[in-house]
Amino acid sequence: MNNTPELYDKSNKLQKKDSEYIIRKLQIDYENRIPELIVDLGCGTGNITERLWCSFPDTRIVGVDCSKKMIDYALDHYSTHNLEFFVADICSDWKILSENTEVEKGSVDAVFSTYCLHWISDPDMEKVMKNIYEMMKPGGRCYFAVFSWSWLLPFQEQIIYQKPWDSYFQQLDLTTGQKDELKIKSQIVDKGTKLSSASSSHRSSVSEMFESKEEKLVSLESSRPYESLMTLSTITESPASLVKVPTRKTSMTTLSDEKVEVPKLVRRKSSAPFPVYDVPPEKVRIEKWNKFCEKAGLKPIETEIHDTTFTYQDIEGFKGELQSLCHYLPYLPKDLHPIFLADYYAHMDRCFISRQDTLPKIKVQYQFLTVIAEKPLTSP
Ligand SMILES: C[S@@+](CC[C@H](N)C(=O)[O-])C[C@H]1O[C@@H](n2cnc3c(N)ncnc32)[C@H](O)[C@@H]1O
Repeated sequence: MNNTPELYDKSNKLQKKDSEYIIRKLQIDYENRIPELIVDLGCGTGNITERLWCSFPDTRIVGVDCSKKMIDYALDHYSTHNLEFFVADICSDWKILSENTEVEKGSVDAVFSTYCLHWISDPDMEKVMKNIYEMMKPGGRCYFAVFSWSWLLPFQEQIIYQKPWDSYFQQLDLTTGQKDELKIKSQIVDKGTKLSSASSSHRSSVSEMFESKEEKLVSLESSRPYESLMTLSTITESPASLVKVPTRKTSMTTLSDEKVEVPKLVRRKSSAPFPVYDVPPEKVRIEKWNKFCEKAGLKPIETEIHDTTFTYQDIEGFKGELQSLCHYLPYLPKDLHPIFLADYYAHMDRCFISRQDTLPKIKVQYQFLTVIAEKPLTSP
């Protein structure tokens, strides 16, 4: 993420909108009583933590973020009576987290978090959940909102396959969010290059966007994945062509009627710890969060995926969000950031912005996931 607090504080309107869902849930749960302590994990600049404080002014509210810049901004702009901010890594050991945040074991009524936890890798998420369990009072609840999927994401991700930027992303490994998907069995391709996953009945949202056979995101079945990526990286015109299967002079283009076994489905590398391509079905995404909770000893109360849209009022606002959430920048030398961003905007102009029929407003369709889970009154 590009942690520019000033920009983020202006741009996180989508996050503010979605936070209202879990704030409402908290208000309902505390209609007739006042929570003593609420902790906001990954609070960023603190503007949503402050919103929370407006609903619970008599509650001690603690915002935690690992970015010192974010917390400095929060301290400067939002810190007040009962509203505190601390720099801490929520994946660290409980003792350290507890010391750094002045939050004691079993003292928290509600753990709140918006648009942070999807950035945490699966193994680290287990540590986070353990910490949440430690800090919560028995009977306390956690309320999370995380990003789940956006129709914008694959377009954004194309930038890392385009020259000259591709060279900076070569160290990317298939991140934890993607590794499981690699277990998908080999696939059968028939003559029309229509590829159907033998093991997964789920068709990715991306594939569904580009229904025509040739345009599906099936470009990666090569046994030499990187070669495919490089071929893709040179395609720059339109969204359809961006995801088009490049014409290849391999045996694949001369398929006869008989079925051909392709060695293994190869996924594109992704720059995020959550899946960008071949997003798992909603049930699976929900189940994953329920498992995180259960493994930590918390009982899931409600886990939901919300289909929604956000309308940016103008292109500037949209680009502000693109920049403030631009997780590609840490891979690049600082002096190249402005050039990269110019290219990134040009790319997004070409494949997303210019295709909007609501211009100058920009409508983004996406999904966020909310989790509410409870620490049982008696420990297991
Ligand atoms: C997209 S921002 C969300 C900020 C705010 N909650 C909101 O909804 O606008 C994600 C925040 O999570 C923080 N973060 C990511 N990993 C973290 C970790 N391990 N410990 C603490 N904070 C973390 C980042 O520094 C960043 O400020």
